Amino acid sequence: MKRAAWTSCSSASLISIFLFVNFFCLIEPSFVSGVPQSNEGLCSLIVRPMGYPCTEYIVQTEDGYLLTLQRISNGRSALRGYNGPPVFLQHGLFQGGDTWFLNSVDESLGFILADHGFDVWVGNVRGTRWSSKHITLSEHERAFWDWSWQDLAQYDLAAMLSYVQTETNSKVLYIGHSQGTIMALAAFTMPDMVKMVEASALLCPISYLDHISSNFVLRAVSMHLDQMLLSLGIHQLNFRSKIGVEIMDSLCDGHVDCGNLLGAITGDNCCFNASRVEYYLEYEPHSSSTKNLHHLFQMIRKGTFAKYDFGWWENLKHYHSLHPPAFNLGDIPESLPLWIGYGGNDALADLTDLKRTIKELKSKPEQLYIESYGHIDFVFSVKAKDDVYADLIRFLRSRGRSTSY
Ligand SMILES: *[C@@H]1O[C@H](CO)[C@@H](O)[C@H](O)[C@H]1NC(C)=O
Repeated sequence: MKRAAWTSCSSASLISIFLFVNFFCLIEPSFVSGVPQSNEGLCSLIVRPMGYPCTEYIVQTEDGYLLTLQRISNGRSALRGYNGPPVFLQHGLFQGGDTWFLNSVDESLGFILADHGFDVWVGNVRGTRWSSKHITLSEHERAFWDWSWQDLAQYDLAAMLSYVQTETNSKVLYIGHSQGTIMALAAFTMPDMVKMVEASALLCPISYLDHISSNFVLRAVSMHLDQMLLSLGIHQLNFRSKIGVEIMDSLCDGHVDCGNLLGAITGDNCCFNASRVEYYLEYEPHSSSTKNLHHLFQMIRKGTFAKYDFGWWENLKHYHSLHPPAFNLGDIPESLPLWIGYGGNDALADLTDLKRTIKELKSKPEQLYIESYGHIDFVFSVKAKDDVYADLIRFLRSRGRSTSY
């Protein structure tokens, strides 16, 4: 078998590697559950060295996962009397809370929001490096990986948002990217969840996925990668593992141009800093579950925004119906202010799917379209501060409740 091109990638073909260099370096964070993090946390590795205050909190989900939240309560030069509302940042698939801090302080949304006076809270879903503990299960057990994004919406978001709300005594401004928007759109259909949110900005929003144009993903779908992995008993999806690399090899083998793997997966990103790849790779990609991948592939195959499909028999047991119930975007209250940012080169959040999403929402979201942007540009573009975040912050300021704002 021909080894995929990332093994011979020049630095210009960037992130091919994004996903796959360093694959033997398995991450073993030294977490102590229930107490604030040691010097191995995101705060001490990335945020504090840049001169920002940062605190870590551990919250327990209803189903026993221990998630880490980071809080950056003010910027480098805390502006007097400037006491912004809490903003909650939710990363996407195979990413973690580090995503918001991996460019320079003047380019990264997490730092920029703190410098603008917001009280920044950072979510990390189960299975990522920063949230890899459970009260009884170890990440080496199959049961640890028995979840998909609907559980991230229902359990992880519920635990994290209610913690932020309680701690700050305020509703939360929610910002999500990619899977962080799937989680949001599902959660916002639930009255108990949406009542914690003041307004929401969605970067590359996804609910429907059946017009996805990513060749790489389409190939993985057509070769039934998800079912194959499940039947092989591979429940953790870790592209840093040997098997993760072999999977990528087989997907690339002669079928997809993997010389630019990140582009093949996410669409052409205009403003990605190729010199920074090695630094990104110190933190990403994070693990997710194969069941989550299967759920996403179900959406691609069936064109639904619905709960996980267990098959008829199990569906009857779980949902009391043959088919999994759909999330109805029309259930999201019209009173929830929404802002969406999306790109013309995004191979995952396709314009056709997005149009359908917008049509089904009761409220009319504010929209920012950037033709040259791919999926990853919305978090990593070196120009996102001007292209995206300026308008995003204008939106947040117009919606944040804090009187001193
Ligand atoms: C790209 O990354 C390199 C390496 O971290 C950095 O020195 C450079 O300033 C970055 N360029 C931009 C435009 O951010």
